[in-house]
Amino acid sequence: MSELRFAGDKAPLQEPERQYFFLERAAAHVEELARELGRRPTCCVTTFGCQMNARDSEKLAGILKRAGYEMTDREDADFVIFNTCTVRDNANQRVYGRLGVLNGYKRRNPRMRVALCGCMMQEQTVIDRIRESYRFVDLIFGTHNIYKFAELLTAMFEQEGTVVDIWKDTDRIVEDLPVERKYPFKSGINIMFGCNNFCSYCIVPYVRGRERSRRPQDILREIRQLADQGVVEVMLLGQNVNSYGKTLEQPMSFAGLLREVEQIPGIRRIRFMTSHPKDLSDELIQVMKESQKICRHLHLPLQSGSTRILQAMNRRYTKEQYLALAEKIRREIPDMALTTDIIVGFPGETQEDVGETLDVIRRVGFDNAFTFLYSKRTGTPAAVMENQVSKEQAQAGFDRVLQQVQDTAREQVRKYQGRTMEALVEEVNTGSPGLVTGRLSNNTLVHFPGDASLVGRIVEVSLEECRGFYYMGKMLT
Ligand code: 5AD
Ligand code: SF4
Repeated sequence: MSELRFAGDKAPLQEPERQYFFLERAAAHVEELARELGRRPTCCVTTFGCQMNARDSEKLAGILKRAGYEMTDREDADFVIFNTCTVRDNANQRVYGRLGVLNGYKRRNPRMRVALCGCMMQEQTVIDRIRESYRFVDLIFGTHNIYKFAELLTAMFEQEGTVVDIWKDTDRIVEDLPVERKYPFKSGINIMFGCNNFCSYCIVPYVRGRERSRRPQDILREIRQLADQGVVEVMLLGQNVNSYGKTLEQPMSFAGLLREVEQIPGIRRIRFMTSHPKDLSDELIQVMKESQKICRHLHLPLQSGSTRILQAMNRRYTKEQYLALAEKIRREIPDMALTTDIIVGFPGETQEDVGETLDVIRRVGFDNAFTFLYSKRTGTPAAVMENQVSKEQAQAGFDRVLQQVQDTAREQVRKYQGRTMEALVEEVNTGSPGLVTGRLSNNTLVHFPGDASLVGRIVEVSLEECRGFYYMGKMLT
């Protein structure tokens, strides 16, 4: 579905040149709006969902800022864009709720414009509902064409009615577009897009398309530039980073890419997200072990501890294989924090299956885990499985898992009490301004006395007191 049309269009066909052409044109419209308003128009980018979406939002903000908008967190701004998520139904419901609020703002400010993009927009049922019940929305686009946001913004200014541009898929990766980073000292970097795994509960392969990797030279160039700008921590992003590079003209392993990133001067910490257990290689464990920069944190989604359920989920590993992998990692790199994702209430799951999950949590000793109630996503194989679990039964399992996760995580986090570790200072605490928050290599947070001058610095902190999932500490000078 594409309804873009520009009269007398002299735009270059090449990317990213085409987008820079439209960026200028969008800037002229924003300038005109500024004259009408007697002030610079404001814009707000609201992100739902994962780190990938957060990174996409930085790209949207990069375009908006260069078009002349002033960024704000307020959703009564002159331009508001929701970058949506659809991984679970509650993410969708939040978007509809917030859209209702925007409608009220728009009635009071008729010049206000509203845009929607991201994963949720890749679903036809969502588009239909918005066209029917949320007609005040000015622009709708999806995940595959986010690179042409400047062009879409121009269309929004120049065309009557709602501009809708949704692509089914793409093999395209456009480099060198502007980005407005949220933090000056750390940044996410996309290393691949899409997913080919087709876990039976998951909608991501349908809304983010087929797996494709960025070329290593493009990734490394971007990281070098970030390091020059003062970034000290990078997070390599992909739905399944362990299968990075398999489809490149000159294939390269994820471990190989990490070795290259390690060489970049100025970068002091490397994180990555997300790893699929079935693809985690011995080479990767070795690279992590030898690295001075790769953080001591691995997020390794388990989803379920029951082999039977794992099979129905199409995860392609068993309980025993997961346990063996976790044990190998703990043996090779003892201070590595392991975190995970768990789904409770998948079709056919019994309380015995939940018991298997509890067993894995205890045996691995996760440092943290995100627990989710299974959410039925239309179009996925699990949605049409006959043995859907009742809400009550799912909730009972969820409560058991959550309790176990909290008990285990508390114990794990407490292990480092009294130690001195490096923390990257991320922000001054909003609640108590005399304190700053730092992140340890293992992803645990520590709060300690300090001020804004420390933000972005890596400092030594003694971990004085464990308070559940975080520490209170003292900086060593
Ligand atoms: N229901 C519940 N949780 C889900 N996730 C993905 N799809 C679903 C679903 N349909 C969870 C998985 C994944 C995380 C990002 O979201 O645990 O790892
Ligand atoms: Fe949500 Fe998945 Fe899209 Fe991330 S990739 S925003 S988690 S649906």
